Amino acid sequence: MNILIIGSGGREHAFAWKIRQSPKIDQLFIAPGNAGTSEIGTNIEIGVTDFPAIRNLVLNKHIGMVLVGPEVPLVEGIHDFFLADELLKDIPVIGPARQGAMLEGSKDFAKQFMIRHGIPTAAYFSVTKDNVEEGISFLRSLKAPYVLKADGLAAGKGVLIIDGLGEAEQSVRDMLDGMFGQASATVVIEEFLSGIECSVFAITDGKDYKILPVAKDYKRIGEGDTGLNTGGMGAISPVPFADEAFMKKVEERVIIPTVHGLQQDGIQYKGFIFFGLISVDSEPFVIEYNVRMGDPETEAVILRIKSDLVDLFEGVAQGNLSDRHIDIDPACAATVMLVAGGYPGEYKKGDVITDMDKTSGSILFHSGTRNKGNEIVTNGGRVIAVSSKGKDIEEALNLSYKNASTIKFNNKFFRSDLGFDLLKK
Ligand code: AMP
Ligand code: GLY
Repeated sequence: MNILIIGSGGREHAFAWKIRQSPKIDQLFIAPGNAGTSEIGTNIEIGVTDFPAIRNLVLNKHIGMVLVGPEVPLVEGIHDFFLADELLKDIPVIGPARQGAMLEGSKDFAKQFMIRHGIPTAAYFSVTKDNVEEGISFLRSLKAPYVLKADGLAAGKGVLIIDGLGEAEQSVRDMLDGMFGQASATVVIEEFLSGIECSVFAITDGKDYKILPVAKDYKRIGEGDTGLNTGGMGAISPVPFADEAFMKKVEERVIIPTVHGLQQDGIQYKGFIFFGLISVDSEPFVIEYNVRMGDPETEAVILRIKSDLVDLFEGVAQGNLSDRHIDIDPACAATVMLVAGGYPGEYKKGDVITDMDKTSGSILFHSGTRNKGNEIVTNGGRVIAVSSKGKDIEEALNLSYKNASTIKFNNKFFRSDLGFDLLKK
């Protein structure tokens, strides 16, 4: 079978690397891909929301399955586009249709869904310009800090956590006035939950599900989880506090009610569900849903999946996931993200990356890279995800750190404290 992966980051390179190992794959295409994916498949320079161009590619290259990496094409309805097209409708898309993608595309929708299905989450109130004063009253009833979320997609920037009530009230008004454009025309005001976060992933055919390895991602740019939020500076899997007892609660209180809830609401869902969780005194609460895999979590988690991913995808497509098997490696995995200096603020692109061939023992998943003549140059804030396995987290991290130091490009930066919060315990 020929497979098309939509996207261009480390997550998509990790998927490509794993799918390449499947006996079921013939040709692998990535749109648009990066320098890393070009080594194991064919990159096609098409934007992730250019559905007509994707259609031509799928028909010309006899694609038998499409895996959607990022959320934007899902929220914009790529799956629905396929279902509505006579020639595409039988080609499976791994990733939910627009209605299911609302779990990520609208925080208000996700909150209503969780309340309706009894899934533990922070108390909230949604405001628009029509009910600002009620929203402000709700805000005043909460304890600091205050959590404000743009309802729609805001490229990971739409969440504000504010200490002062006055500033929070002003921010609600600023958000409604377009701080995040149309995405903050509705604002979700949320109770702040204090705890430690982890990322749980499941794949579902709409009826059954398989749980993938759990991971923890490090979102802040600075050591000790300080400074600005990024797309993710690294990841570790498994997560020591997400033990069997915790995961049992997650499955019973979060995963099963989510899959059943989708069914009850008549939403057909085929793809990944990413549960952004917070453990409050060992009780799981859902912070957010994403309708795709995490990045950089995928770059760690993928090393621990022993089974054939394409076989699981076929189970999703055919609605017989319950007949498939997921085999998970008990070893640990760690990913260290190399970023361009300045990220997540302004940074340069086009710097030459060298010495990747001098690394050993890790797998280098490219995030923001491209080919330029015979060289590979930086092409994004997050540049390379250095992923390793080990018998424990320390061993996996040490290997990634050794290779992270070997790779060279101008103003390279990475966090050297990953795992600090898990290992000291
Ligand atoms: P997001 O961009 O949606 O991933 O949210 C960014 C971060 O905000 C999350 O990873 C959490 O660390 C934090 N956050 C979101 N909602 C809450 C909440 N209700 N309580 C505490 N922290 C939160
Ligand atoms: N690593 C978090 C995300 O992919 O949203």
